[in-house]
Amino acid sequence: MKEIFKEIAKRFGTPVYVYFEDILVKRAKIVKDVFSDLNYLPTVAIKANNNPYLLKILKDIGFGADILGEGEFYAASLAGIEPTNIVWNGNGKTPEQKEFMLKNNVKYINVDSIEEFEYLWKKENNFELFLRVNPDIDAKTHPYISTGLKKHKFGMTFDQARILLEKFRERISGFHIHIGSQITEISPFKEALEKTYSLAKEYNVKKINIGGGWGIKYKNENELDLNKLKEELMPILKNFELVISEIGRFIFAPSGFLLSKVLLVKKGEQKTFVVSESGMNHLIRPALYNAYHDIEVITESATKEVVDVVGPLCETGDFIAKDIEINLPEIGDLLIIKNAGAYGFSMANNYNGTTKPSEVLVKKDGTLKLIRKRQTIEELFNSCIID
Ligand code: LLP
Repeated sequence: MKEIFKEIAKRFGTPVYVYFEDILVKRAKIVKDVFSDLNYLPTVAIKANNNPYLLKILKDIGFGADILGEGEFYAASLAGIEPTNIVWNGNGKTPEQKEFMLKNNVKYINVDSIEEFEYLWKKENNFELFLRVNPDIDAKTHPYISTGLKKHKFGMTFDQARILLEKFRERISGFHIHIGSQITEISPFKEALEKTYSLAKEYNVKKINIGGGWGIKYKNENELDLNKLKEELMPILKNFELVISEIGRFIFAPSGFLLSKVLLVKKGEQKTFVVSESGMNHLIRPALYNAYHDIEVITESATKEVVDVVGPLCETGDFIAKDIEINLPEIGDLLIIKNAGAYGFSMANNYNGTTKPSEVLVKKDGTLKLIRKRQTIEELFNSCIID
């Protein structure tokens, strides 16, 4: 494994996001097979990773797409995903976006609120509308990525959904539930589905989008047990004529790595800092959610030490890992930052005038393919007007 990373660094330079096709395909097939007994449309949550080459691999396995707006629609269409397999999500949709989605034949809309329904969908017959309900359930995940409680901005209450169903039943195709991300326990999914099913029965609603949120193992937690999930959800799901899912992290996270070079090793009075060329600009999850990403070092050194792996940017919040035990590297050694395939590149930014990494795919046959070029400084500033 380390040899491949060394070769990639040599051929393509660093920092670089590296994806493995075999892992990606394996994970995608697991997601696809879970509910294959049903009329099931798995979609890929493009927000987790928008590289069209990777999306095309998923499309070929049978995935549709969950998109937020025109940008993610564009990624989906570059991957050849049929608009009839696309779900449009969001809590701030505009009439212009609606026209765009209509023109491009997007089929499914998740309606976030009663206000959105009144504003955009009341007189609209061209889409299948799913009401996003907020079941008021604690997903037991990081507060920033938890979405299913009343205090969160997402979805409508069951009473609000009832108001719409009473007036517009024939316009509404299904329900959508998404209670958060990186959820590793079954019970929140089950509870949310049970609650929603009781409403579905009341109004004979036959289609459901169960969202995403399937959690993986970053550190001590266990990956969500999909066999168990299937066992627990099937008795309810089999009552629906169509089941849609929107999965991002579970597919992408373990298939992607951020490969970054060590710029310096600095001995502070209290801590040793390993300065990586990638920081919160290329992987913001540790800075934003205190998320843990395991790191493996490619080095000759065998001394283990507890260090902070930090980025080179001008903020104390710019770190990749805190108090992590690794082989103490030297300048120029490589860091393999794991589980970075989801919400890694897609959340990368240009803070401090830095450019985004390139992306390379290790294909099934072991060959390497550049799937996104490194951003250039010219690209960063070519939209600026200076006179
Ligand atoms: N469906 C909807 C409506 C969503 O909002 C999301 C994620 C998904 C599906 C996919 O969820 P997944 O299967 O990836 O858990 N940036 C954060 C995660 C934000 C999730 C946003 N919504 C992170 O890096 O952990």
